[in-house]
Amino acid sequence: MKGGAPLAPIIRTEHLRKVYAVGKERVVALNDVDLSIEKGEFCCIVGQSGSGKSTLLNQLAGLEKPTRGKVFIGRHEISAMSETDLARFRQAHLGFIFQSYNLLPTMTAAENVALPLMFKGVDKNTRLALARKELKSMGLLGRANHLPTEMSGGQQQRVGIARAFVSNPKVIFADEPTGNLDSTTSKQVLYRMLELSKNQQVTFVMVTHEPELARCADRIVTILDGKVQSSVVQDEETRRRNREELFAGLDLTIGGKAAKEKGGGGGKTEAGRAS
Ligand SMILES: Nc1ncnc2c1ncn2[C@@H]1O[C@H](COP(=O)(O)OP(=O)(O)O)[C@@H](O)[C@H]1O
Ligand SMILES: [Mg+2]
Repeated sequence: MKGGAPLAPIIRTEHLRKVYAVGKERVVALNDVDLSIEKGEFCCIVGQSGSGKSTLLNQLAGLEKPTRGKVFIGRHEISAMSETDLARFRQAHLGFIFQSYNLLPTMTAAENVALPLMFKGVDKNTRLALARKELKSMGLLGRANHLPTEMSGGQQQRVGIARAFVSNPKVIFADEPTGNLDSTTSKQVLYRMLELSKNQQVTFVMVTHEPELARCADRIVTILDGKVQSSVVQDEETRRRNREELFAGLDLTIGGKAAKEKGGGGGKTEAGRAS
C-alpha cells in the first residue's frame, strides 16, 4: 500500500463458520474464516464452484446468519443483530447487485432504480429525479421508461447497478453480476462498477469465477473448500496494467452512440453460461 494514512477495515469476520443441514448430512460451507476488507476497496472473491463464495458473500451482507463466528461492518456486529435491525441496516447502508438482475417486471427502469429510495422515505419526484441521474451515469437515460423485458441483459444489469448505487450505500455486494452476460458486456459492466465505486468511494465486494475480471480488483480473496486460501492486495501498478489490458479497445460508451447505432447496445446477451 502506497503512502497515506492506513486504511481501516470496513468489513471484518472472526472465526466465521457456516454449516448447512441437508437431510441428515451437514455441509460445512465456511470453515473458520477470518477476513478483512478495507474501506473503499474493490474486492473480488474467487474460487471454484461450490467453494463457498456465495455463502461468504451472504454472511458478509447479512443475508444469512453464520452458524458461528462474527461479522462486522464498520463498528456494527451485524451477526448479532435481530432480523428487523438487520433489514433496516441493509436498507440504510448496503447495496446489492444480482446475477439475474432481479428487476421488478412491471416497473420501468427508472421506477426500479428509485425503489430503494422509497424504503428510505424519499418523496416520489425526488426519487425519480435521482433515479434518472443514476441511469444517466450508466448511459441509460434513454431507457428510463422502458420495462426490463424491453432491454438487453447488459442494460438490465446496468439498471441493477444504478439501483444499487442510488441510495449512496457504504458497501455494495454483488454475486456473479456478470454471470449472465457475454464477455464484452461483462467488461463494460465491470468498468462501470469500478468507475462508480471509485467516484463514490464505495466499498465493493464482488463474487466472480472469471479470473480476468478479478485481476482488476484492489483485493483478490481466494476461497478453497470453505476457507480463505489467500487475500491479496494488488499494487497500483499491477491493477492499472490489468485494467488497461482488459479494457483495451473496448467501446465504453455503452448505451450512448454505439447503442443507438446497433439499436440495442450491450450486444449479445444471456450467453447461457452455467453458473
Ligand atoms: N442453502 C443451502 N443448503 C445446503 N447447502 C448449501 C446451501 N447453500 C450452499 N450450500 C452448499 O455449500 C457449499 C458452498 O456453496 P456456495 O457458497 O454456493 O458455493 P459457490 O458460490 O462458491 O459456488 C456447496 O457445497 C453448496 O452445495
Ligand atoms: Mg455462488
